[in-house]
Amino acid sequence: MSAAIRYDMPLSDERFSGLIETSPFAAGAGREVYNVPSDEDVVVKKVKGEFLSNYLEWLIWTSIMSTELISLFGRCITISPTGRFLMMERLVNLDDWEFDRIPNVPNWMTDIKRSSIGRTADGQIKLRDYASAKLGETLASAPRRRVAL
Ligand SMILES: Nc1ncnc2c1ncn2[C@@H]1O[C@H](COP(=O)(O)OP(=O)(O)OP(=O)(O)O)[C@@H](O)[C@H]1O
Ligand SMILES: [Mg+2]
Repeated sequence: MSAAIRYDMPLSDERFSGLIETSPFAAGAGREVYNVPSDEDVVVKKVKGEFLSNYLEWLIWTSIMSTELISLFGRCITISPTGRFLMMERLVNLDDWEFDRIPNVPNWMTDIKRSSIGRTADGQIKLRDYASAKLGETLASAPRRRVAL
């Protein structure tokens, strides 16, 4: 793997636009996903409309990155202030036989399908589309603490 390139956080829409190829290599319902010719270790997700998916993915990443879940989720690297662009580590498609070996995922994740899962260059299986989550019960069941004001 090449040495990790450092990117500003946030990174402007203009800078993202200058980094990506002209055409996406993949797309889902809400986002197009682009290669970055100067960095083979990352991809850029661009929202097609006024969706919040990149912000949600970023929020989940920054929340779980300090927990044991970090190894299960694709690393988000930077986002644009508008949320239109999000950079994530590249996670290649799994081979069919690998789906027998995928790790268990948290029950707050919704909309998991084969295309949501990928593999790092060094073989770790991770989630690469986690912009769909049902967090209400998880947030509500957290212990409460008394606050002295
Ligand atoms: N980190 C990644 N590395 C490589 N390819 C990716 C990555 N993230 C997404 N892709 C590719 O881009 C496609 C679309 O990305 P993603 O699933 O994040 O968008 P989406 O709009 O949420 O899609 P969907 O409608 O399927 O939920 C994926 O199916 C996959 O092929
Ligand atoms: Mg999705």
